[in-house]
Amino acid sequence: MAKVKERYTVAAASELEEQGRKIVEVNGIELGVFYVNGVYKAWRNICPHGAAPVCVGRVCGTRLPSMVYEYKYGRDQEILRCPWHGWEFDLLTGVHLADETVKLRGYEVEVEDGQVYVRV
Ligand code: FES
Repeated sequence: MAKVKERYTVAAASELEEQGRKIVEVNGIELGVFYVNGVYKAWRNICPHGAAPVCVGRVCGTRLPSMVYEYKYGRDQEILRCPWHGWEFDLLTGVHLADETVKLRGYEVEVEDGQVYVRV
């Protein structure tokens, strides 16, 4: 039987839109809740590499595929870089940029009446 997920209030939508990120604890689980270019996302604050608090890492962009000797920067504010060893994750999908088999654990996010909720 599937476990029923409960909905928890984690932030005001305006607060998250302004700050971009909030670290919260929900039902004993630490999460990073993000506002990423108009989208709300929630990821468990544990890096799949070495269990660092990945959600406190730098939010940035990354190098895009380009020709040799070219440097193209893009996807600004959509990439999360782990503070310990620099693994980079797509904040929209949770997937590691260089290895799609590695992923952050994500949680369902809902926005209603100006409040952001996460289902855990
Ligand atoms: S613990 Fe995150 S990259 Fe190593």
